[in-house]
Amino acid sequence: MPYLIPLRKAVHAMYVCVCEAVTEHDVHACIAAGAKSARQIRDITGAGRDCATCVRKICAILKRSEELVAIA
Ligand code: FES
Repeated sequence: MPYLIPLRKAVHAMYVCVCEAVTEHDVHACIAAGAKSARQIRDITGAGRDCATCVRKICAILKRSEELVAIA
């Protein structure tokens, strides 16, 4: 039986965390909901709980979102 990816994941399949199958869209949703740190995003999504390879990428997304808020 083939592995089926949920439709939402298939449409936005830019994975930030491969271990926990967390997408960039998921991280942005956390930030929009008020997450301010990689730890908060980990607590919500699980990203960074395993190998932690994704933590730098999550921090970069957080920084970019802070910069966008500062510009606006
Ligand atoms: S890639 Fe995120 S915990 Fe491994």
